[in-house]
Amino acid sequence: MEQFVIKGGKPLNGAVEIGGAKNAALAIIAAAIMTDNDVKIENLPDVKDVNVMLDAIMDIGAKVERIDRHTVIINGSTIGGFSIDYDYIKKIRASYYLLGALLGKYKKAEVALPGGCAIGARPIDLHLKGFRALGATVDTKYGLVSADAEALIGSHIYMDKVSVGATINIMMTASLAEGKTIIENAAKEPHVVDVANFLNSMGANIRGAGTDVIRVVGVERLHGTEYSVIPDQIEAGTFMCAAAATHGDILIKNVIPKHLEATSAKLMDAGCKIFEYDDAIRVFATDIELQRTSVTTLPYPGFPTDMQPQMAAVLGLAKGTSTVTESIFENRFKYVNELTRMGAQIQVESNIAIITGVEKYAGARVAAPDLRAGAALVVAGLSAEDGVTVVDDIHYILRGYEDFDKKLQKLGADIELVDNERDIRKFILRVS
Ligand code: UD1
Repeated sequence: MEQFVIKGGKPLNGAVEIGGAKNAALAIIAAAIMTDNDVKIENLPDVKDVNVMLDAIMDIGAKVERIDRHTVIINGSTIGGFSIDYDYIKKIRASYYLLGALLGKYKKAEVALPGGCAIGARPIDLHLKGFRALGATVDTKYGLVSADAEALIGSHIYMDKVSVGATINIMMTASLAEGKTIIENAAKEPHVVDVANFLNSMGANIRGAGTDVIRVVGVERLHGTEYSVIPDQIEAGTFMCAAAATHGDILIKNVIPKHLEATSAKLMDAGCKIFEYDDAIRVFATDIELQRTSVTTLPYPGFPTDMQPQMAAVLGLAKGTSTVTESIFENRFKYVNELTRMGAQIQVESNIAIITGVEKYAGARVAAPDLRAGAALVVAGLSAEDGVTVVDDIHYILRGYEDFDKKLQKLGADIELVDNERDIRKFILRVS
């Protein structure tokens, strides 16, 4: 098992390059199999979840040619099966995109029920409601979701709850349905827009992505394309929080600053200075005193739930009492116990974390309970002057962050990825 070992307390300074958005990439890879022509995808992050998705489409016969670390050519003409029970796919939530993609293209699909980070119940009823509205018969048993349709017919679908995954999934399937589909109360996240742009570049007819109402006019077939995935707003936001927590000064390159507005606004509330450029953002927190603020997670353009733990790690060091309200997932405070072991003072009442700022954290041995919570523990560890932080279970973190340790090292962090107790001891000896 791998760990991150961190000797914190150094302000992070310098520039970091952000990779492609994991969550956009996962949907785009699934959508790429909806044509029989070549699809070239650039700016793919080299992270575990993305590689599992690529393995899954290969498992059913798609060809995947790796051009370089961040570029692939996918060809879905050789797909021979519509059933995905590939072992690991159950562990990535985004496996549900294969349901929408296969159903749209072949009118049938069978995919193992999604798992993913244990941050809540995470039902997929809205996805299934959408497929049924488009004319599919959907069944869930033995841990599999199966869907098939004689014909897919456009429909008017109201989403009872804003769901990123269901919006994207329905958009994909509707692209190859007959007639017009209207998705109301659609998610507006940047990756919804990115997947719509990608599908449109394959010949789909999707309008309104990024607003509450998405209109899809089905086309007979999709064609090949070349596409570059948008930058990862959560990876960028995590480095922004690392700058704040360590009182550093980081230029975060290859980002779309607009996508980061909610995170920027809250870091400014907390006293950081933010400078926006065309495709970069600088977080300046040298010598500032972090101030309390309150944060509520909401669908985009609200504050992203995927940034909630990292922001809480920052607010744990802010003067005064902050509140963090989680309104999307019910089980997203699992980092609190671990952060408390590093000295944080946090009380959770229902879906609100009440955080009384402390002057500093102390290094401790902690375990990542999920992907973003794990990132938050790293942020806390980077700021902790006393002691060494060992983060266990970093397989969660590696699902979504490419070269996390190397990028942090370039910013001056003392962090190493190790895989045995001996190397942990060696690190501790070196830094103490
Ligand atoms: C996606 C992201 C995840 C992010 C989340 C919210 C991917 C692979 N994952 O997850 O990182 O945290 O958006 O921005 O892109 N819900 C239902 N029924 C459904 C679907 C969702 O009740 O059928 C609920 C969920 O339990 C949750 C809320 O809707 O409370 C939002 O979930 P959703 O936007 O669907 O999240 P995911 O697409 O799973």
